[in-house]
Amino acid sequence: MNRFRIIAVTGAFAVFTACAPAPQEAKKEAAPYKAPSVPGYSDMEIPADNPITKAKVDLGHMLYYDKRVSGDQSRSCYSCHVKEKGLTDGLAKAVGAYEAKLTRAAPTMWNVGYYKQLYWDGRAPSLERQVLGAMGGGNMGCTGKDGRPTVDECVARAAGVDGYKKAFEAAFGPGPITKENFAAALASFMRTIVSTDSAWFKFRGGDQAALSDGAKRGYQIFSEKAKCTNCHDGLLLTDQQFHNVGIGMDAPKPDMGRGAISKDEKESGAFKTPTLLDISKTAPYFHDGSAATLEQAVDVMVKGGKKNKWLDTTNLKAANLSNAEVADLVEFLKSLDVNYTIAEPALP
Ligand code: HEC
Ligand code: HEC
Repeated sequence: MNRFRIIAVTGAFAVFTACAPAPQEAKKEAAPYKAPSVPGYSDMEIPADNPITKAKVDLGHMLYYDKRVSGDQSRSCYSCHVKEKGLTDGLAKAVGAYEAKLTRAAPTMWNVGYYKQLYWDGRAPSLERQVLGAMGGGNMGCTGKDGRPTVDECVARAAGVDGYKKAFEAAFGPGPITKENFAAALASFMRTIVSTDSAWFKFRGGDQAALSDGAKRGYQIFSEKAKCTNCHDGLLLTDQQFHNVGIGMDAPKPDMGRGAISKDEKESGAFKTPTLLDISKTAPYFHDGSAATLEQAVDVMVKGGKKNKWLDTTNLKAANLSNAEVADLVEFLKSLDVNYTIAEPALP
């Protein structure tokens, strides 16, 4: 038995070494790098075709803050995902390059590397794809229409800067700078936007003193009486699923959210459950920015959402809460702040 095991292990090792990259390639990929993770949560899944390295993260960090890569050079990714506003922009609906009015509110960036489907409607299956969407769409304005630059042309602006040439080479080895590499670097950086420092995780890790008594009562209401955890579940406070809670369904032409992507009528008006981390800073609320304050947003949810044909009444029911209970619930939500650990980099 024992002998068999030794042989099996040696065999596996031989296969492993045979598959390992040649030394030259290994050098190009630079030193291994471990993305930070949410305390107490599983490690992030990193796609096999874009292993995370420090060189990619450093490059993506600079690109994320650089306005030169938007169509009219007025916006960086960071412009709409700002630290003081919980990594959002403080607007009901975002305004992109060329002052383009967008149709939805900017969501927070906390822990996006854990999501399998990006955007309110989940239309992007990876961060790499999401970057190309943001670049070629209204956000960054590299649409290639009406005389505006294409994504390739926006990326070429970075390629023309010496410091970026070096950074791309450090991350991807010699060769042309492509939009795929650009997206791979930005995605790698975004995988490091992890909420490592928050009272919420200390509390969940067993530190009872991390939350005030009111916030602890609020958490009880959140998870038991009001069952907000039916959707805002787990450490990340989201089930990463799509639900219709009725927001914006009374508009003349409602945003069909997930339904417009999946073409499944049952998902009409369903949006991805947002995390509630840093929620005290991300007003206005909901995908259409229709709730000006946290108290208003909570009121909508406590009352069981807004009536419409597709309301998810299985998971969302009106909760009969006293004013004191609602106050505790809000106190809990306000305790979900995150301390930002990423600084603005020097740009080349
Ligand atoms: C003009 C403001 C604006 C700019 C600039 C912008 N974003 Fe966003 N971002 C948004 C809005 C609005 C959404 C939500 C869009 C939707 O769901 O349809 C969003 C969504 C996202 C998401 C999805 C988050 C989630 O929870 O699913 C990611 C990731 C993201 N942006 C990253 C970026 C990156 C990277 C860049 C730069 C290449 C960028 N953003 C530039 C406004 C902006
Ligand atoms: C059926 C699933 C579900 C339940 C249950 C639920 N929510 Fe939500 N919540 C959502 C979805 C989906 C959104 C986004 C809706 C939109 O913008 O269209 C949301 C949005 C929010 C927002 C605004 C977040 C932001 O970033 O704009 C807050 C605050 C909120 N919920 C709090 C609560 C509270 C408190 C409870 C319990 C009383 C609760 N939710 C119960 C699914 C749910």
